[in-house]
Amino acid sequence: MNQTIAQIQEIFGDSTAFSVSEENPGFPIIEVNAGRSTAQIALQGAQVLSWMPTDHPDVLYVSPKAKMEPGIAVRGGIPICWPWFNAHPDDPSKPNHGFVRNQFWNLESAEFEYNMATLVFTFAPTAETKELWPHDFELTATVKISDKLKVRLSTKNIGEEPFQITSALHTYLSVGDIERIQLEGVKGSHYIDQLLPAGSEEIYQEKNVIINQEIDRIYSSMSSLLLRDLDRSRAVFVDKAGSRSTVVWNPWKEKSKALADLPNNDYKEFVCIEACNAGRDRPTVRPNASHTLETTIGLRPLQ
Ligand code: BG6
Repeated sequence: MNQTIAQIQEIFGDSTAFSVSEENPGFPIIEVNAGRSTAQIALQGAQVLSWMPTDHPDVLYVSPKAKMEPGIAVRGGIPICWPWFNAHPDDPSKPNHGFVRNQFWNLESAEFEYNMATLVFTFAPTAETKELWPHDFELTATVKISDKLKVRLSTKNIGEEPFQITSALHTYLSVGDIERIQLEGVKGSHYIDQLLPAGSEEIYQEKNVIINQEIDRIYSSMSSLLLRDLDRSRAVFVDKAGSRSTVVWNPWKEKSKALADLPNNDYKEFVCIEACNAGRDRPTVRPNASHTLETTIGLRPLQ
């Protein structure tokens, strides 16, 4: 843990919108009360763990078996996967989904104005990250909480060589029943089926998506998505920016058993809809330039 609880509280100042607790030693979690919704964000990974608009159950899912311990990736909420998505392209011994989701970020600011809470976190390279990825960068995550939830990830290249990144705002959306959802927004696009051997031909998505088996797809799509949750009589929208790919993931029965941090039957309770730069979508960031990946989530009545 880099910042102490006292240092974090100093950033909050007099504001009653923010507090910080440390139920698990060395693993601070910020609580936000933004009037129209509440949220929790872990300093590790700048990972949003909960977002609850007033009178609604949590929009995000966190596994009850997730370990809230320094250095361990937390299964649920919105992990930030960066600077590579999934396995490293050349070296499978490097951590899945990059190295910023299980390290502490720095809280730079926390402000509450006009019913919107805005928290800014940064992550800077260390000797350890240079071993994994030898580039100079400034990474900023901005989390905005109001009647919507926005996460914006900005990558600035402060080195002398261009670099390529893949990444994901790996959002675990909580659902009433995985077999009673419909996903709109990817119909008419092509996807890489990650359950098929690498290099398999891309597949055309003819209809809206329903899920009744394991799914792990990278859609080539810039479109917003709408998750219709029939069980909860609500819809969740996912808007994106800086993203030409969307991942839809659910491990289903068998894969869930292999995931030690997920109860066997909890695959029924979430679907990951991830604003990504993945598959063929690999932005190059030139020296002194930035790339921004963003997702905005909110509720709509079910129509
Ligand atoms: C998804 C990937 O984004 O994340 C899947 O498409 C992967 O292939 C899943 O299994 C979970 O990854 P992890 O490292 O959090 O278990």
